[in-house]
Amino acid sequence: GSTLQAAAGESGRYFGTAIAANRLSDSTYSTIANREFNMVTAENEMKMDATEPNQNQFSYGNADRIVNWARSNGKQVRGHALAWHSQQPGWMQNMSGTSLRNAMLNHVTQVATYYRGKIHTWDVVNEAFADGSSGGRRDSNLQRTGNDWIEAAFRAARAADPGAKLCYNDYNTDNWSHAKTQGVYNMVRDFKSRGVPIDCVGFQAHFNSGNPVPSNYDVTLRNFAALGVDVQITELDIEGSGSSQAQQYQGVVQACLSVARCTGITVWGVRDSDSWRASGTPLLFDGSGNKKAAYTSVLNQLNAG
Ligand code: G3I
Repeated sequence: GSTLQAAAGESGRYFGTAIAANRLSDSTYSTIANREFNMVTAENEMKMDATEPNQNQFSYGNADRIVNWARSNGKQVRGHALAWHSQQPGWMQNMSGTSLRNAMLNHVTQVATYYRGKIHTWDVVNEAFADGSSGGRRDSNLQRTGNDWIEAAFRAARAADPGAKLCYNDYNTDNWSHAKTQGVYNMVRDFKSRGVPIDCVGFQAHFNSGNPVPSNYDVTLRNFAALGVDVQITELDIEGSGSSQAQQYQGVVQACLSVARCTGITVWGVRDSDSWRASGTPLLFDGSGNKKAAYTSVLNQLNAG
């Protein structure tokens, strides 16, 4: 294949990107996005603060712009994200207990129902585990409603959109030997054993010199897949430049291709200038839209299988 989506498609996988609604009018941006990618994640527009700015008043304008652009260009959509400790609307941030639990479940139900049939995969819960050595849950207002908040969110999402794949999504879960990775793994194993409706696990994959691509990435992906879930790389970016960056990108693609249930890769933006990282060059296209060495290494690795 001569594009990322075509090359990934040769093994039945997708290649995606995060899209920002306010960049779709930039023709350099939308031309690259349309040509190279066939899975789209809204970078911010489907988060809780964007879709429910006031309690029980839902706002889908910017999210719809992305979903409509994706669907009219033949792309699938990854919904991001139904429940998260971060990017909560102001009214939710200071809630607690039963009222917060019910507000969260109502949000999951309303948003997943509104988009029923249009979402390939939902990130149902995002970033619920703590960093560091505990392997436990992150403290948050949602966690304090009870440890079962995550499974409750998954059950509500399944009921609202039975056709969508339901994913748990987190960062720093790439290295198999990290406590956080083990914590998420144990949760997924528990969910599968008790019939909690989870279909997949997303690995954000935000890498830099302090958090490099682990050499055991394939082990991590393979072990999660063996629990009976699909795995995806969901927000890939790698700080750096040149051949070092290109090699690290290649390693991530290789790890995914080595696991049958690793069904796709999404990079977190189109050009370096679109990245959430204010400075730095972590993506596959430079600020002018030129293909970088990292692009070529990803494309070649996808084509090599
Ligand atoms: O749109 C407003 C603008 O009107 C305002 O003037 C400006 C002033 O701060 O803020 C703008 O909103 C910003 C938004 O990005 C759009 O640029 C927010 O402040 C800023 O917080 C927000 O950052 C996003 C971040 O998530 C928030 O959680 C990044 O774009 C987005 O790339 C990032 O994505 C996350 C994933 O959702 C989860 N995993 C990690 C990943 C990277 O942090």
